[in-house]
Amino acid sequence: MVTDAILSPGEAGGPAIPVHPVTPDTVARVLETLPETARTYAGIMGFTAEAGQTLCLPGDTGSLAAVLFGLGSANAPARSPLLPGKLAKALPAGNFRFDEGTQGLFDADDQPFDPRLATLAFALGAYRFDAYKKVPPLRSHLVAGPQIDTEEIRRITDGVYRARDLINRPANDLGPAELAGAVESLASVHGAKFHTVTGADLETEYPLVHAVGAASDRAPLLADMTWGDPAHPKITLVGKGVVFDTGGLDLKPAAGMALMKKDMGGAAATIGLASMIMDAGLPVRLRVLIPAVENAVSGRAFRPGDIFKSRKGLTVEIGNTDAEGRLVLADALARADEEAPDLLVSMATLTGAARVAVGPDLVPLFSHDDGFVADILASAEAQYDPVWRLPLWRPYDKWLDSKVADLSHIGGKAFAGASIAALFLNRFVDAGTTYAHFDIYGWAPEARPWAPAGGDAQAIRSLFDCLSRRYGKA
Ligand code: BES
Ligand code: MN
Ligand code: ZN
Repeated sequence: MVTDAILSPGEAGGPAIPVHPVTPDTVARVLETLPETARTYAGIMGFTAEAGQTLCLPGDTGSLAAVLFGLGSANAPARSPLLPGKLAKALPAGNFRFDEGTQGLFDADDQPFDPRLATLAFALGAYRFDAYKKVPPLRSHLVAGPQIDTEEIRRITDGVYRARDLINRPANDLGPAELAGAVESLASVHGAKFHTVTGADLETEYPLVHAVGAASDRAPLLADMTWGDPAHPKITLVGKGVVFDTGGLDLKPAAGMALMKKDMGGAAATIGLASMIMDAGLPVRLRVLIPAVENAVSGRAFRPGDIFKSRKGLTVEIGNTDAEGRLVLADALARADEEAPDLLVSMATLTGAARVAVGPDLVPLFSHDDGFVADILASAEAQYDPVWRLPLWRPYDKWLDSKVADLSHIGGKAFAGASIAALFLNRFVDAGTTYAHFDIYGWAPEARPWAPAGGDAQAIRSLFDCLSRRYGKA
């Protein structure tokens, strides 16, 4: 689904209704600039400019003259430059624009309104998942201010929508082949090379991917896309593509399995990010590797105690078949590292422990590269797409020791689960490679102003910003 929520001034072709972003401190001064009818109406309705409060103001003939949008007071927990995303679903039919004349009213050190982020949030907030249920179309449009790069807003929105759509699609309609199909169709849009590795080739080239996916009637595969000038810096993205995670023989209880269609959230995020990078034409050589499997139960299922020789040559003792994500990522990371990329990123719905630590909305980041971490954290703060560093604590690495294989894939303790998973992944990447791993949730339990509840494209706006700054044309 491509967004039609945003219009450039040229596309609007007519006047738009002004939306006035106001705070409890500025609302009175803004109302003074409006006709008496509007002032009276705002008073009667008790408009206080609380965070997210929206009020349509009548003109003298009963037409819609203007809109007040509350940004909240300085310390309101709901205050966010993305708050105006609410407007996409709150406004009636029509073309609207932000009135930036109110900008000057805010304190210089308290700027609660950012035109770019507000426009982006509107586009992101207009998302609906209507593949299985008809939902009424949104009929409000935001006419972007003349200083807004609408192409950039659409590029980011399209990447985010792609990721959300993939996560929201249920596992009965999204198996490994369909996930690979999503990569292939993106590749064809941008003239990227694409191939999959399957069957006996998968078993020799990506033995852990094969082992994890063996139980399912829907065959496992490795999707491999390459784009861009080989002389440019090499960026490789690896995304966990577990289309459904039953836990395998270490079966999850019902409550733990309910949401596991989203276990390909890492793959969805990398696809969304790849879309942004290619659409922007960033001067990089991009590669995307997606191990796509269903972690199912059958007579062919891998078992606790099994030992497999990974692509890298390390033997891995299976401790728990529900820790499948790190196994499929390990082989893909080893492949990625063989060409010594300038930057290697993995994204995965990898551990419940990450959720215990930071909840659904924040994304733990694991990396030994302090420079990259500083860059991505700065981007995350600027884009309001939160990322938080957690430790890759080397002394815990020995928890992965196995008595019978080169390593075990679980720590076997009730501690530091997200860090242990990240340490496992790091065993498959050369110490000289700049590598960052993001443990995403991929799901919004509740609606936010810029997104409905459901599939959530986390950390990719931050990553796109970071990569644009690092590698952009300047
Ligand atoms: N896909 C899950 C991780 C997950 C669970 C993410 C719940 C979000 C919410 C992953 O494959 C998994 O099951 N991990 C196990 C690992 C454990 C067996 C070492 C976990 O985190 O419990
Ligand atoms: Mn699992
Ligand atoms: Zn999983």
